[in-house]
Order: sequence, then C-alpha cells, then structure tokens
Amino acid sequence: MSQNKFRNRFPSIPIFFLLIFILSLGIYLYFRTSLLSKSNYQEIKPLATHSNGQNYVGSEACKECHADIYKTHLETTHYQSSSLAGPTSVKGSFKEGKNLYRLNDSIQFKMLLEDSGIYQEAWNTNAQEKISRSKIDVVIGSGTKGQSYLSWDDDKLYQLQVSYFNPTDSWTNSPGIPMELMEQGRPANAKCLECHTTFAKNTALYGMGNSYDKSQIIYGIDCERCHGPSRKHVTFHKNNPEMSEARFVVSHDTLSQLQRLDACALCHSGVRMDIQPAFLFLTGDKLTDYSLPDSNVKDLKEVDVHGNQYDLLRASKCFKETERMDCTSCHNPHKSERGNVLSFNKKCMECHSMNSVFCNVDSSLSNQKNTNCIACHMPLVPSKSMFMQIGQDSLKVPVKVRTHLIDIYAQSSSETTDAKM
Ligand code: HEC
Ligand code: HEC
Ligand code: HEC
Ligand code: HEC
Ligand code: HEC
Ligand code: HEC
Ligand code: HEC
Repeated sequence: MSQNKFRNRFPSIPIFFLLIFILSLGIYLYFRTSLLSKSNYQEIKPLATHSNGQNYVGSEACKECHADIYKTHLETTHYQSSSLAGPTSVKGSFKEGKNLYRLNDSIQFKMLLEDSGIYQEAWNTNAQEKISRSKIDVVIGSGTKGQSYLSWDDDKLYQLQVSYFNPTDSWTNSPGIPMELMEQGRPANAKCLECHTTFAKNTALYGMGNSYDKSQIIYGIDCERCHGPSRKHVTFHKNNPEMSEARFVVSHDTLSQLQRLDACALCHSGVRMDIQPAFLFLTGDKLTDYSLPDSNVKDLKEVDVHGNQYDLLRASKCFKETERMDCTSCHNPHKSERGNVLSFNKKCMECHSMNSVFCNVDSSLSNQKNTNCIACHMPLVPSKSMFMQIGQDSLKVPVKVRTHLIDIYAQSSSETTDAKM
C-alpha cells in the first residue's frame, strides 16, 4: 500500500518542478525584457572612453538634473577653453587689412575664412609667393587673453605660428615660437590638450606623443574633467529618479584639503614633469602619483603668475594660517566671476571680519579703491613666460595675470590693477 502510494506520487514530483520551472522562466523573461526596454530607453551614448573603461557623456547629459549649474557652466572660460575652429570660435579678424601678421622682413601671414574652413597662409613678400597653407582645426584658449590654433596632419596635431591677442585685438606671434623662425609644424604635444580639454584619446606610445583618436576628443573643460566620466551616474539616476543621494560620482565633500587642491593643481600648478599621462588623473587621486612639480623652480620668485596659482596661494599667509583653504574658498567652479569685485571682497571678509585681522591701511586710500581688497593685495603681475609680440618692431608685451600671493604690496604695484585682463 505504502509502496503504491509512493509510486502514485512519484510522477507528480517532476511535473511540480516543471511547473515551477516554467513559471520562473516566465517571470525571468518578463523582467528581462522589461528591464532591457527600460535600459534601452535610458541608454546614453558615450562620447569617449577613459582607460579605466568608464564612459564620458558630456554636459548635455547633466542638464535635466543639474539645470542651474549647467547653465552657468557654459559661460565659464573652462567650458570655452578649446573648441573646433569656426567663424565664431576664432576671435581674430578676417577683414581685408586686419587679417595680416608680418613676421619679419620677408614673411607675412594671411588669415582666410573660406567655405572649406579657416586657413593661415605664409607668404614671401619679396617674391610674392605662397610658402605654406595650414588649416586652423582646433582653437585653444577662450580668448579672454588670447587664443592659439592647432592643425591636423593626419592624426597628428601641430601648433600654428600665428595666435590672437585680445587686449590689442590683433594677430600675433604664438608665445614660445621664435619670431625669426618660420616654424609651421611645431608638434603640439599632449600638453595643450591635457589642460585645455576634458579628454583626448592619445594614440601615441605611452600616451605621450601628439597623435590622437579624433573621434574621442571632448573639447572645453567640461563637467567630467572635474567630476570624472559620469555615464554610470547618469544612467543610475535616470533609472532611479526617486534616489536623492548621489551615486557613482565622487563627492567633493568627502575629499581632503589636498585632494581638493590637487583637482585644480592638475592644470594650475605650472609645467609639471609627467610620471603618467595627465588624462589618467581623476578627482580624488593624488597628483604626485601622476606628475611632479617643475624641479627648475626652486624659489617662490621663480614661480610664474601664469599657470601657477597653486604654489603662490600656498605661500600666502591666508593659506598657511587657516585649516582648510582651497581654490573654492574664493572661486565658484561653476560660474564665471571675472571682474565681480563684490563677490571676491565678500570672500575676503568671510575671514577678515571675524578673525580680528582687519585691513589697517589708511582708510582714505582704501576708499579710493572702493575697498577693492584684491586691487591692493592680489595685484595684476606681468607674466615672466607669456609674452606677446604684436609686430616685428614692437616691444614684447607681457601678459598680466592676477597673482595668488596674497600679500602687502607697495602702493605702486596697485596702479596695474585697473586693466581688465
Ligand atoms: C537623472 C538625474 C541626473 C543626471 C542626468 C545627472 N545627475 Fe548628478 N546627481 C543627481 C542626483 C539626484 C544627485 C544627488 C543630489 C544632488 O547633489 O543634487 C546628483 C549629484 C551629483 C554630484 C554631487 C555629488 C556629491 O555627493 O557631492 C555631482 C558632482 C554630479 N551629480 C555630477 C553630475 C554630472 C557631471 C552629470 C552629467 C554628466 C550629472 N551629474 C547628471 C542626478 C543626476
Ligand atoms: C583640465 C585643466 C584644468 C583644471 C582641472 C582646472 N582648470 Fe581652471 N583653468 C584651466 C584653463 C586652461 C583655464 C584658462 C581658460 C581659458 O581662458 O581658455 C582656466 C581658467 C580658470 C580660471 C579663470 C576664470 C576666468 O574667468 O577666466 C579660474 C578662476 C580657474 N580656472 C579656477 C579653477 C579651479 C578652482 C579649479 C578646480 C576646482 C580648476 N580651475 C581646475 C584649466 C583647468
Ligand atoms: C573646474 C572643475 C569643475 C567643473 C568644470 C564642474 N564642477 Fe561641479 N564641482 C566642482 C567642485 C570643486 C565642487 C565642490 C564645490 C564645493 O565644495 O564648494 C563641485 C560640486 C558639484 C556639485 C555638488 C554641489 C553643488 O554645487 O550642487 C554638483 C551637483 C556638480 N558639481 C555638478 C557639476 C556639473 C553638472 C557640471 C557641468 C555642467 C560641473 N559640476 C562642472 C568642480 C567642477
Ligand atoms: C599645465 C597646464 C597647461 C598647459 C600644458 C597649457 N596651458 Fe594654456 N593655460 C593654462 C591655464 C591654467 C591658463 C589660464 C590661467 C593663467 O594664465 O594662469 C591658460 C591660458 C592659455 C591661453 C589664454 C587663454 C585666455 O584667453 O585667457 C592660451 C591661448 C593658452 N593657454 C594656450 C595654450 C597652448 C597653445 C598650449 C600648448 C602649447 C597650452 N596653453 C598649454 C594651462 C595650461
Ligand atoms: C579662509 C580664511 C581667509 C580668507 C578667505 C582670506 N584670508 Fe587673508 N588671511 C587669513 C589669515 C588667517 C591670515 C593671517 C592673519 C595673521 O596675520 O594672523 C591672513 C592674512 C592676510 C593678509 C596679511 C598678509 C601678510 O603677509 O601680512 C592680507 C593682506 C590678507 N590676508 C588679505 C586677504 C584678501 C585680500 C583676501 C581675499 C582675496 C583674503 N585675505 C582672504 C585668512 C583668510
Ligand atoms: C583668497 C581668494 C582666492 C583663492 C583662495 C584663490 N583665488 Fe583665484 N582668484 C582670486 C581673485 C580675487 C581673482 C581675480 C578675479 C578677477 O580678476 O576678477 C582670481 C583669479 C584667478 C584666475 C585668473 C587669473 C587671471 O588673471 O587671468 C585663475 C586662473 C585662478 N584665480 C585660479 C585659482 C586656483 C587654481 C586657485 C587654487 C589653487 C585659486 N585661484 C584660489 C581669488 C582667489
Ligand atoms: C588701497 C589699498 C588697499 C585696499 C583697497 C585694501 N588694503 Fe588691506 N592693506 C593695505 C596695506 C598697504 C596694508 C599694510 C598697512 C600697514 O601695515 O601699514 C594692508 C594690510 C592688510 C591686512 C594685514 C593687517 C595686519 O594687521 O597685519 C589685511 C588682513 C588686509 N589688509 C586685508 C584687506 C581686506 C580684506 C581688504 C578689502 C576689504 C583690504 N585689505 C583692502 C592696502 C589695502
């Protein structure tokens, strides 16, 4: 009997499991397809891929959730720091007569805006013949002070001889290229792009040469240069709109003072000696794992105001005698604040109205400057390395940059502060 019972039951066990199996298969397939269609819908096209496999998606992808930051970010010189060449991105003039730059007695450059693109032509003025013609492909610099131009030769980038200088609104010789030489074809090494773009896939050996994958360059210093490739963050939040806590993105709040400084020092601490390509660096990393400060600069006096705010700030009393000062103590990384004296004064006063170290300058003097703290304590200083030579016979004009050595300066230096550069 008991055997019979058992035998009767026996075939029902596989049927039971079969039913369970079919049911779970159904549930699995249902969720799989619905998940797939959901993620298909929310899939964001990557613009480029970092060596760590993470994808860049560009600031367009941040707009819907960070609308305010997105809007002001587009106005920053970071965002405008490089671009594809076009009639609006190239600031210099193409008007007849204004489109010339005389390099020396025998060579003159002509800048031409044509249907097929923008060109720099070098002419031998004695023989009246064209020596070279290069296309302007890439613009480096927002144009606040000036711009330099790069040209593709196959997959290699080269810097062109003629640049643009904003204070005189004229074409000029590129800083660093000797005037005497007609040097079309100076390799623009990885360096320009490292500090002036978000990402560029270098195809040279060890990532240190001047050849790039053109399809993987993100022009301008966009969100993801500071926040890292963000496709995962975007995909996650699009699929989880109820989640109010940030995922898959480094929080600046959790970073140490050094990490926060390093994120800016990557590009604002002068020329550095590479250990690894700079594009590998992501916010949160230790900068000295990627590059070391220029060992030729041994003295604070040798630190140039151009390109090196980091070392000058660190030498200032404000920095040395506070706990956690960094670049964001005065700068909003998402806004263009150039010339906004009131905003900067307020930052100074955040510390100088409470810690009892007030300005003790004669009040009649400080009133003359409308209490503009930076006019006297962070004056514009001529750069030692960045010169512009407007014409063959004209003097070299050093570019003036706001020093970050906050200090007490002789009154005479404050007369250089009114220029809007
Ligand atoms: C679908 C919505 C969504 C999109 C798109 C999105 N984010 Fe976010 N992000 C969030 C949410 C939600 C938070 C958490 C709340 C907050 O800080 O605003 C956040 C926070 C952040 C934070 C702060 C992290 C922290 O903890 O301090 C950064 C940085 C950030 N996002 C960068 C980006 C960037 C860059 C992009 C574009 C590439 C982007 N986000 C696109 C939803 C989004
Ligand atoms: C990828 C390199 C890079 C990083 C990282 C970077 N900067 Fe810059 N920064 C630049 C370049 C290049 C310019 C000049 C842009 C131009 O005018 O073409 C610039 C310009 C600026 C300016 C001048 C703005 C103006 O109105 O002209 C400020 C201020 C500044 N950066 C602050 C910061 C701070 C703060 C950080 C860190 C949170 C930072 N930068 C990170 C490269 C960088
Ligand atoms: C030059 C570097 C830089 C760029 C470019 C940049 N950020 Fe930031 N971002 C920072 C820093 C630094 C902080 C931390 C600010 C602080 O702690 O005061 C921050 C904070 C944030 C935060 C959290 C705090 C807040 O202000 O809401 C969000 C969200 C964010 N960034 C999104 C973006 C988006 C979106 C873009 C592009 C549209 C962008 N960032 C571009 C450097 C940058
Ligand atoms: C180590 C980072 C770094 C490298 C490398 C670099 N730059 Fe810059 N560049 C900066 C910073 C930072 C600024 C703006 C702030 C300053 O003057 O200190 C700047 C400013 C400029 C400006 C003026 C932009 C403006 O309108 O204010 C031009 C033009 C420029 N760079 C061109 C170049 C070219 C061309 C190369 C390559 C040959 C190059 N830079 C390499 C960091 C760099
Ligand atoms: C995070 C706080 C903080 C901020 C912001 C700040 N300072 Fe200071 N500053 C200090 C401290 C602390 C000292 C050292 C005070 C002392 O001598 O005991 C100092 C010292 C100074 C000194 C004296 C320098 C010397 O060598 O004797 C000047 C001048 C100065 N600050 C100007 C400024 C100006 C201008 C700004 C705005 C651009 C500013 N500070 C922003 C904290 C700050
Ligand atoms: C104590 C306040 C303060 C701190 C901290 C500070 N800055 Fe500035 N920075 C200023 C002021 C003020 C200006 C001038 C703005 C103007 O011209 O309107 C300025 C200008 C600049 C410029 C443009 C220089 C020029 O003349 O073109 C750059 C680039 C810059 N800062 C980068 C940085 C970086 C990077 C850090 C961190 C290492 C930093 N700043 C920290 C106050 C500060
Ligand atoms: C007209 C130029 C001028 C202006 C504007 C100015 N200062 Fe000064 N400041 C000076 C001079 C000069 C001294 C040194 C005075 C002395 O020791 O006799 C000084 C001294 C200081 C000191 C050092 C005080 C001490 O006890 O060591 C601080 C801090 C300071 N200023 C902050 C500021 C702040 C913040 C502002 C803006 C609200 C400002 N200054 C505006 C010229 C100026």
